[in-house]
Amino acid sequence: MKHVLSAEQYNRESLEQLFELTDDIKKNPTKYAKKLDGKIVAVMFYEPSTRTRMSFQTAILRLGGQYIATENAASNSSGKKGETLQDTVKILQGYADAIVIRHSSDTWPEEAAKIATVPIINGGAGKGEHPTQALLDLYTIREHRKSLDGVKVAILGDLLNGRTIHSLLKLVSLYKNVEVYGLSKECFALPQKYIDMLASRGIQYKKCNNFNDIPKDVDVMYHTRIQSERFEGDFGREEFIINKEILSQFSEHTIVLHPLPRNEEISEDIDNDPRAMYFTQAVNGLYVRMGLFVQAFEDK
Ligand code: NCD
Repeated sequence: MKHVLSAEQYNRESLEQLFELTDDIKKNPTKYAKKLDGKIVAVMFYEPSTRTRMSFQTAILRLGGQYIATENAASNSSGKKGETLQDTVKILQGYADAIVIRHSSDTWPEEAAKIATVPIINGGAGKGEHPTQALLDLYTIREHRKSLDGVKVAILGDLLNGRTIHSLLKLVSLYKNVEVYGLSKECFALPQKYIDMLASRGIQYKKCNNFNDIPKDVDVMYHTRIQSERFEGDFGREEFIINKEILSQFSEHTIVLHPLPRNEEISEDIDNDPRAMYFTQAVNGLYVRMGLFVQAFEDK
């Protein structure tokens, strides 16, 4: 059974398999139009979402499957009446052939996997992980750069609470000669455990104080929104904003990625710059998620 719980379950080989499948789905979507024929997927999002939820749902429909979903599981499902996520999974697997979940708990994927009899796909776990986002992020970088070895990535924004960052670091560090630069307000610095994880894979994390500390030929600037729903209090606004002037200091090969939604951290004045790839990145999410469903049902 092929769960997608954490970025940790991937290695270079399994990533390449997924990315080649995704390339093929993108090129020949009709070849896959009946892959999920007769399958029903339950989509349970306990936190807000636009891209992740709707691209999962679109992926199911484009593959010929069907989905059951709640618009807002936190208020419309029995979670509101105190049902545990484990009980909900036990019920849903009696109805559906796979379950996609987003929930505010960091640890729900491990708990769900213990009792799951159908594939469970992590659509976001608190401030822990967001593996399918990292897969589409890496896929977008690979489309741009071909080889992921030697890639130089700058991560920006909320490095403390940003689950997309945490999963992306686990994936990107599987490659050789990778460089990782981090630029954030001190209150949103990358937790030590991720710095240690990078070090254990031979990558020295380079903490930056401003845009000048990021090499001008960096391949990717990956910005993120301050995850204000994850903490109490007001830590102010983003200080490091990518705008036309900042981007003009970087190489023509430096792409700008963002999991979206953005707040003020990426200025709209760069949206038409060919290096601004966040909208392309979001479309790639559909194809990567189609690939994940194809794999989930093939490996069964
Ligand atoms: C991200 C998330 O939910 O973690 N969004 C997404 O899935 N594309 C990032 C965010 O909400 O800031």
